[in-house]
Amino acid sequence: MKTYIAPSILSADFGNLQQEIEMVNKSDADWFHIDVMDGVFVPNISFGMPVISAIKKHATKTMDVHLMIVNPDRYIEDFKKVGADILTVHYEACTHLHRTVQAIKAAGMKAGVSLNPHTPIAVLEDIIADLDLVLIMSVNPGFGGQSFIENTYKKVEQLKNLIEFSESDAIIEVDGGVTDQNIQKLADKGATAFVAGSFVFKSENPTKTIKNLKTLVS
Ligand code: DX5
Ligand code: ZN
Repeated sequence: MKTYIAPSILSADFGNLQQEIEMVNKSDADWFHIDVMDGVFVPNISFGMPVISAIKKHATKTMDVHLMIVNPDRYIEDFKKVGADILTVHYEACTHLHRTVQAIKAAGMKAGVSLNPHTPIAVLEDIIADLDLVLIMSVNPGFGGQSFIENTYKKVEQLKNLIEFSESDAIIEVDGGVTDQNIQKLADKGATAFVAGSFVFKSENPTKTIKNLKTLVS
């Protein structure tokens, strides 16, 4: 099974952004995970279009954009323009999720849906066949560096069952508190994409840390 390591740029050194991007380009990472926060859906503001454009200018890998914003429909075309390849919205932020997912696909991107830690997998039953990716939050969204919520293993397992039952091709991605201590168990349960922010960027040798994570799930 193909696996994807997605370093979260939120934990990178923004003062040396180009250098951080080049590090990811040269590493065993597969995707750039880009966290967009609006200060409304989550209690934090990260960055927007100009910064994503700057990342795209240097990035040679898939741009996996995670929107933690209300009303994401307003910006779908804009995220395409600045270079998003995968666009993930939150279930909790979308009243007309089916319409949003179709709009993301129509704009030429892969469509993902993310679930907060308290949101059950069952809410995806009628949309799973349309999704390219499901992002399971293993922390409450808003900040890097939080501890992994153990209930995530059960959710990954349930999602894996739902995907198989629905004959969906959706990738299972896990986001929040991912380390070398939990990545293998997450893979065993069925996850194939792994976001890691602080564990990568705050480590002594991020390139080596990425390589190690990749090896653990290959
Ligand atoms: C949290 C973000 C995550 C975050 C992960 O709201 O969605 O992508 O950057 O950071 P770590 O790996 O440090 O938990
Ligand atoms: Zn994220």
